[in-house]
Amino acid sequence: DRKIRIAPSILSADFADFGREIRAIEDQGADWVHVDVMDGHFVPNLTFGPPAVKAFRPHVKTFMDVHLMIAPVDPYIEAYAEAGADLITAHVEAGPHIHRTLQAIRATGKKAGVALNPGTPADSVAHLLDLADLICVMTVNPGFGGQKFLDMTTKIRRLRELIGDRPIHIEIDGGVDPATAPIVAAAGADVLVAGSAVFRGGSVDAPQVYGDNIRAI
Ligand code: DX5
Ligand code: ZN
Repeated sequence: DRKIRIAPSILSADFADFGREIRAIEDQGADWVHVDVMDGHFVPNLTFGPPAVKAFRPHVKTFMDVHLMIAPVDPYIEAYAEAGADLITAHVEAGPHIHRTLQAIRATGKKAGVALNPGTPADSVAHLLDLADLICVMTVNPGFGGQKFLDMTTKIRRLRELIGDRPIHIEIDGGVDPATAPIVAAAGADVLVAGSAVFRGGSVDAPQVYGDNIRAI
């Protein structure tokens, strides 16, 4: 179905209270929770690992979309599956064996996603379409929230061509806000990740009023 889903990224949430932040976005309209795992190697930033994802799990009532910006990926797939991820996304660029990585993710019983950095062509997933439940199109170079949106319209359209009528989500990740969301939705995206556009204005003192930001996307 081509319903547009909003997946707030907790990378922009209050790192001192993820439980409260997750409950707030879900109570206020989030469809999925996007969890950005960074290892300080594949990307120049470090966030959290399997123990943290395990701690998030009981607070997530919708769907935990785990984005692994790590290399290598394969040694850690089991740990993120055990931690409770509903979908595990690996980067094409994280190693030479993305086909095997997706097989390994599916073998855990979880949904499998493949992510493409801005410099990686759409056709790099052409031989993965029987293994992927989701293709994540990075519209920023991964590592940080709040970056400027990179237009990947051509890539998104090409992916829709390659996907045909397969039930594969196209997820857009980076710089999604009320101005850029319509652009990527028109091109064929159906899951929109947003970090700073959802969490901006929140603070440890102010009540977590994220609903207006989510609805505006
Ligand atoms: C970046 C992450 C994105 C990021 C999005 O490496 O993969 O999910 O959190 O943040 P915004 O929406 O602020 O660009
Ligand atoms: Zn992400």
